[in-house]
Amino acid sequence: MKADLILRNCSELLTLTGPCPRKGSQMDDLAIIKNGSFAVKNGIFVAVGTESEIVSNYEPETIIDANGCCVLPGFVDSHAHIVFAGDRSAEFEMRLQGATYEEIMAKGGGILNTVNATRLASYEELYTQSAERLKAMIKTGTTAFEMKSGYGLEANAEMKMLMVAKKLIHDFGVEAKTTFMGAHAIPKNIDRNDFVSLIKGEMLYVCKPYADFIDVFCDKGAFTNEETEEIVKDSGLPVRLHADELADTGGASLAAKLGAVSADHLIGASDKGFEDMARSGTVATFLPGTSFFLGKPFARAKKAIESGCVVAIASDRNPGSCTIQSMPFIVGLACLKLGMTPAQAISAATINAAYSIRSHDRVGSIEKGKRADFVIYDVESYRMIPYELGVDHAKMTFIKGKEASWPD
Ligand code: NIG
Ligand code: FE
Repeated sequence: MKADLILRNCSELLTLTGPCPRKGSQMDDLAIIKNGSFAVKNGIFVAVGTESEIVSNYEPETIIDANGCCVLPGFVDSHAHIVFAGDRSAEFEMRLQGATYEEIMAKGGGILNTVNATRLASYEELYTQSAERLKAMIKTGTTAFEMKSGYGLEANAEMKMLMVAKKLIHDFGVEAKTTFMGAHAIPKNIDRNDFVSLIKGEMLYVCKPYADFIDVFCDKGAFTNEETEEIVKDSGLPVRLHADELADTGGASLAAKLGAVSADHLIGASDKGFEDMARSGTVATFLPGTSFFLGKPFARAKKAIESGCVVAIASDRNPGSCTIQSMPFIVGLACLKLGMTPAQAISAATINAAYSIRSHDRVGSIEKGKRADFVIYDVESYRMIPYELGVDHAKMTFIKGKEASWPD
């Protein structure tokens, strides 16, 4: 049979086929094929198996020699704020001199600082700055994304962010979902009730055509549980929440009550919160890069797994609380700081993350019928990826069967 390409000479092919999403002990099984191989046609995997099976059945136009390396499905970064303008390096320095993230936020810095820069940036400037981040993320092996608004906080600026996200998704050909996050912070000089009405009204109206999900920063010093409920309840969009990051405000249980697709951060989440989420099927998304970057405690991912939650991990890439944009680094932190095994962390960053953005029918595993998004890492075994923390092992990233590359 004809194929556009086949891959051969690979040490371990991590297919991640099987249960989706993976829970409990299912997370330990990466469905590895030793000397695995696959055939790709029109950007889709058409067969996955051992090298002898594939080579004997397919006549490819191109053969990719993996040179004894390990091959994974592209990582899925299911929580990222990559569209924004400017940077917050001055606040980074303030934090190093003792100010906390919350103090900076309470004084009108933090998110509102990036809101000013993002409002001032033209569509083109915002696109160019965000595209650089996206390229860097793809180079480390991430091929699917969630992209949030939330640095506009007014209808037109929120819509500009989402339109930039849509254009990036189109231009880079990546699988991605967009999230309207007008409820990220409350701008100065506006009454909070008026702002909640604005989010539910004008902002949602103009942003909804560009958004797959709605998200609220539900936390101490941000939006209350009541406000969160009011914002999402009639939005008509599936819900994701930033919950229990700065304090346990019962955000995990609220996410479960609202039938949220995912609740993220969860540093302070209670046992009951995890139990409620397990019952409602709300994905527990952990963001260890944020705890690391802000010097905060790490979330109880093992407790969430034991409670029966679907667990995912993501970068939370943003200008204030986490600038890490490499999923292999996040996988390493999940092992070192959340106590996950390398296999659990990889399941959380691929198939479960794909499930959390409802893209599991297209990405998250190397499986017949899915997009041929895969990465060659120059390691013999997948364990080397978290173990050699900070080493960039990604050799080649493929999106729909084509190597991703751009002029520098
Ligand atoms: O996920 N927690 C709220 N929002 C972001 C931080 C955004 C920022 O500081 O710019 C987060 O950590
Ligand atoms: Fe976030």
